Amino acid sequence: MNSRRNFLKQLSGAALAVGAAPSLWSWASAAQNGPIDVPGEDDMIVRSFRFVDLETPVEYFNTWLTPVPHFFVRNHMHEPSELDPDTWQLTVGGEVEKPFTLNLSELSKLEVHSVVNTLECAGNGRSLHRPQVPGIQWGKGAVSTARFSGPRLRDVLQRAAVKPAGKHVMFRGLDEVPGKVPPFIRSIPIEKALDADTLVATHMNGTPLTKHHGFPARALVPGWIGAASCKWLTDIKVLDSEFVGNFMSPGYRFPNQPGKPGEVVKPEDTHPLTALSVKSVISGPLDGATLRSGKVSVHGAAWAGEADIVKVEISTDGGTSWKAAALGHEQSHYAWRLWSYDWKARSGDYTILSRATDSQGRTQPSTPVWNPSGYLYNAADQVKIHVA
Ligand code: MTE
Repeated sequence: MNSRRNFLKQLSGAALAVGAAPSLWSWASAAQNGPIDVPGEDDMIVRSFRFVDLETPVEYFNTWLTPVPHFFVRNHMHEPSELDPDTWQLTVGGEVEKPFTLNLSELSKLEVHSVVNTLECAGNGRSLHRPQVPGIQWGKGAVSTARFSGPRLRDVLQRAAVKPAGKHVMFRGLDEVPGKVPPFIRSIPIEKALDADTLVATHMNGTPLTKHHGFPARALVPGWIGAASCKWLTDIKVLDSEFVGNFMSPGYRFPNQPGKPGEVVKPEDTHPLTALSVKSVISGPLDGATLRSGKVSVHGAAWAGEADIVKVEISTDGGTSWKAAALGHEQSHYAWRLWSYDWKARSGDYTILSRATDSQGRTQPSTPVWNPSGYLYNAADQVKIHVA
């Protein structure tokens, strides 16, 4: 794999987290003159320079927990240029009896809970939809898995004493909003906010969040589209109804009745996206690979949001017949399952497919469900290979 590490390598995400590094604009313009590198990230596919949007190459779907430098990054706007842990504050208000503000040291005194979660951007796989749709053209890698740790959002909300009128919980982060773009503000229903696994996360894989992933604290809404998990969190506001704003509507909505590819959908015929779909991705062999005949390991990862993976099947004959893959031992409710299938390959050209089934009885479809924003692509994955 091409290495994109270079002169900025020494600027770790942690250094950036305290505002000690140059602005993102300065590295972006410097990078245009040479190999591309992003501070704190290794070998990532850069999907957008304007804001930092980095895709994980599928080759890295080979460990249950994704190392932080290989964890995808999705930003709608500029990352905060200044993040001072000494002055950072989290304000909790709205429909609560006792609004309050916490600093980082007070937040860190709350009981810590950990959740292994597969975070996937709702737009993951968008580039595979036909006809194509506008938006970041993600391939298969806007998804990664980490152990997130921090206080439960429930504990923070209980301290504020939510009023009976409180039905939704809104998050706001410190992103720098360019020009007239609406700020990245979204809300989740109170039931999900009070779930024992919904966090105000401060750590990922045992280390403090890096700047790219929301230092010093982010919401972590497990099993749901990544957009629910607001980074650089500073405001939690309890509302009596869903937040009204661009990233709730028209953003991140799905047609109630998906129509024909290319069809226009009226806003009133859509609903907000919440939990992820069932999905699997083949991380090896890679699409276009030429292999030797003999034993070949077909492997990858499968996840299903709030459901569990119960089965992954592989086809080596373009979808005519299917065999069960072995599921990896590492598992946790909201986390992907690694899987593998040992295949005795003879010479020829093959289309290999994977499809997952989950505990809600959902199976990946053979064709994607097209929608105007290209959300939740989850067709059975496929790679074409040649066995010599
Ligand atoms: N939070 C803020 N404040 N700003 C953002 O642009 N992007 C969201 C979410 N939280 C975003 C945000 C989206 S769309 C995704 S998919 C996840 O963050 C990605 O999290 P990651 O960058 O840590 O992988």
